[in-house]
Parts: sequence; C-alpha cells; structure tokens
Amino acid sequence: MKILVTGGTGFIGSHTVVELQKQKFEVLIADNLSNSSIDVLDNIAGITGVLPDFEKVDLSEREATAGLFNRHPDIKAIIHFAASKSVGESVDFPLKYYRNNLNSLINILEEMTKHEIHDIVFSSSCTVYGQADELPVRETTPIKPAWSPYGNTKQICEEIIRDNGRVSKIQASMLRYFNPIGAHESALIGELPLGVPNNLIPYITQTAIGIRDYLRVWGDDYNTPDGTAIRDYIHVVDLAEAHIAAINRLLDGKNEVPVEVFNLGTGKGYSVLEVIHSFEKMSGVKLKYKIQNRRPGDIEKVWADTTRANKVLGWVAKRGLDDMTLSAWNWEKHLAELKNKGK
Ligand code: WQD
Repeated sequence: MKILVTGGTGFIGSHTVVELQKQKFEVLIADNLSNSSIDVLDNIAGITGVLPDFEKVDLSEREATAGLFNRHPDIKAIIHFAASKSVGESVDFPLKYYRNNLNSLINILEEMTKHEIHDIVFSSSCTVYGQADELPVRETTPIKPAWSPYGNTKQICEEIIRDNGRVSKIQASMLRYFNPIGAHESALIGELPLGVPNNLIPYITQTAIGIRDYLRVWGDDYNTPDGTAIRDYIHVVDLAEAHIAAINRLLDGKNEVPVEVFNLGTGKGYSVLEVIHSFEKMSGVKLKYKIQNRRPGDIEKVWADTTRANKVLGWVAKRGLDDMTLSAWNWEKHLAELKNKGK
C-alpha cells in the first residue's frame, strides 16, 4: 500500500518514513529539498534496507502537484509534513509562509478529491494554543490568536481541512506536535538545521561539539520553578510511531468524525535548565550557557494532556528526556564524524 509522505526528507518526515517502512508500507516521498538533503534517502535505506521512492516537487505549484499525482495513481493515503516551519523566519517573510503552507495543502486536497484518495494525516502544532490559560492543554482548549505567521498558517490549515471535510469524502487526522527532539538510535537520521539553529536542542548539541561558543538561554524570569520556560519535549521516534497509529486508524475507517485532532506530547513539561542538566548528564559534557533576555514571541509554559492520543489512538510516548538528549548528542557526533571524513 503506497503512502505519500510530503516533506519526507525532513526531520519528522524521515523518522516517520522509517517507521512506515518497518510496517511494510510502500513509501513515496515528495519534497522540494528547500530545508533538507537528498542524502536522507540513503540514510533511511541504511536503517531499513529500503530506498524510498522520491520526487523533487514544489507542492505549492498546482501543476507540479497534479503531475505528481498523475504519475502515482496508486497513492492510498497521505502524510503531509511539507511546510515552512521557522517561527522567526515567518515573521520576516510572512507571504512566503502563507503561499507555501496554504497553497501546498490546498493543492494536495484538490488532488485527493480528483484521485479519490480519502485519508490524510496533517502535521499541526501546539503553537495553535499560544499561551493557554489552562494546563495541560487538551484538544478542546481554546485556540488563541497565533503569535507568528507560522502559527497562523497552522491554524488556517486546520480550518481548511475542516471546511473541506464538510463537502468531501476526505477523512483527516490532525496531529498537534509539542516539541519534537532527539534522533533515531542508529544516529543515521536526525535534525539537520540549515545555518544557525533556532531550536534549543540543536543549539545545545552544536555548542557541546564546538560549533557554537555558548548557548543563550532566553530568559530566566518566567513564572516557573527555575525561571526558565517550560515545554513538552517529545522524542521524534515516539512522534513517528504516533503517525503510524493515526494512518492505520484512518485506513481502517475508524475515524468517528471526518476530522480528528490529537495532542502529541509526553504530558510532562521540562524547563530549559532541566533540559541542559539532562544533556550534561547524558553526554558528560559541561555546557557553556549565558542567561539572556526573553526571546520575543516565546510563550512561558505548555505541556499536553495526552489522554485522547493514549485512549483513541492507542499510542503512548515511551521515551524519556534523557533518551532524547542522548540520541541528539549521538546524532551530532555522527555529523562531526561525517564532516571529519569530508562528507
Ligand atoms: C524551546 C525553549 C526557548 C533556543 C518549537 C518550534 C515550533 C513548534 C513548537 C512545531 C524556549 C528556549 C531555544 C535557544 C533557548 N513546533 N531556547 N535558547 O519555541 O517551543 O517552538 O516547537 O510546530 O515550530 O519552533 O522551540 O526549541 O525554539 O525553544 O533558551 O537557543 O528553549 O526560549 O523556551 P519553541 P525552541
């Protein structure tokens, strides 16, 4: 059974492709390689022994997307990751984010209707909650106005899927990720930020390996136990496994309503300092960091109520923070080895 994975050479996409292949799905990746490397295909094959089928496609282009679906009439379902995802960049280039993230989804939904493909898993985000008034956040926690164009594109895409779901046979599972971190145990795939990382974990591992001088900790004056901001970090392999549960639920026709939503986190929040301490414990590296002012746009604290994902999807995050920080460190060391070999 062929599953189209858009954005499948990306961080979460590549880990999901590995899990799909382990479940014997046939995988087609469509990616424009704007934020990932074609080498990921060989790395996936290095783990599973199967080289995914691949097409370089800009899904925000309607004709290009139609061509992809015409060439692959046997696509059974879709997992849609392909999107621009930097909060900071979206503030500087909002039109790029609206064009890419919205057009890509609309093109895919149109092709699904044309080719009678009924199942899509959509990559959404906990950013739709903004700074929630109640914690942990449930899927019914009110959505707040987005703090960035990126977050707004996720909110609008969820509405597009809902509105389309009322007039089409498309069944959707919208997965709201919390903070995906870590890497596959093989250290053959992981997070590959291009340029200076925005996110915490790659900045930590690049500091520890010597690429960055020190980590800037954005604020220690939050209303949290140690003053630093709290997030629900989830191992990327746990997240990938949740996508298998979601696509199987759709393929088995178990969706109770046309569009279902699931929070994908661990249900536990950790502060920036707690993450640093976990990293130091697991890596044996003393991390150099300096406390700075808060980063504009950051929320103070968020963590998930995962009851629905646990009970309805039958999925539970299994890996703890130490697994996450150790796997991220092993991945960074693997990258350093490749660089030393001139690869
Ligand atoms: C985490 C914490 C920072 C970098 C991400 C994605 C977003 C969405 C949700 C998917 C914050 C602090 C960070 C640094 C720091 N995911 N930090 N120094 O902002 O929660 O958002 O997850 O949709 O797309 O960006 O993640 O890793 O940037 O920050 O102190 O150098 O680490 O202030 O408290 P964030 P992050």
